[in-house]
Amino acid sequence: MGKPLISLAQIAEEDPYYLDIDEKPDWQSQFGNTHPLKLEIGFGMGNFLIEMAAKEPTSNFIGIDFYHKGIRKLMTRIKKLQLENIRVVYGDIRSKLSVLFQDRELNTVYINFPDPWPKKRHTKRRLIKPEFVNQLAQKVSLEGRTCLATDSESYAMEMLEYFNAEALMQNLDDKQGFLEERIDLPKSKYEKNFINAGDKIFYLEYLRLAAVNPVT
Ligand SMILES: C[S@@+](CC[C@H](N)C(=O)[O-])C[C@H]1O[C@@H](n2cnc3c(N)ncnc32)[C@H](O)[C@@H]1O
Repeated sequence: MGKPLISLAQIAEEDPYYLDIDEKPDWQSQFGNTHPLKLEIGFGMGNFLIEMAAKEPTSNFIGIDFYHKGIRKLMTRIKKLQLENIRVVYGDIRSKLSVLFQDRELNTVYINFPDPWPKKRHTKRRLIKPEFVNQLAQKVSLEGRTCLATDSESYAMEMLEYFNAEALMQNLDDKQGFLEERIDLPKSKYEKNFINAGDKIFYLEYLRLAAVNPVT
């Protein structure tokens, strides 16, 4: 018989880097510094987050997901590598975004291969919607970035439409379209699989603009 799996409840009790929370933490005290906050939504098995945290020790990384197997694996790897600059939040970003962060608190947001829900009747379950893009824009700091990647052409077209329509977001591609590649970021697990399979990947990057109305 294999070793019994540790439950997330046990991780929550024993591991201060894992947060199953319903109120906003003080991120500065969490990390013990004021380094920029970078959020990955839907980290899966956590490869991208681990590589980013190792590569950028002067940034603080927060990952959010509800995939139990991925969370267990990520917590084990964070401990093994002794990475001090990652916190893992359990949950659905749609309900947690407004709880966890104050406006303009995030320096960068990464959304790598969000579930594409390819069946037509399921596309309404997709994460990226105009209201979500607007909520996200409020949480990103001025000149902060949002980086997205997907292999789904129909989802990519929706992302492009919704983000390009958001007044607070500036598409960083010269032609307001997709970027051909992304050389400065590690490859996520899904990304490596799609590249190996020869699939096209759609990359997008947006800069947070100042609002015309200075209140936001
Ligand atoms: C297709 S996987 C991609 C994993 C990883 N980003 C990668 O590129 O290898 C999508 C991940 O997003 C997570 N996810 C989906 N919807 C989410 C939501 N609303 N909030 C947080 N995580 C979510 C899923 O549990 C899953 O781990």
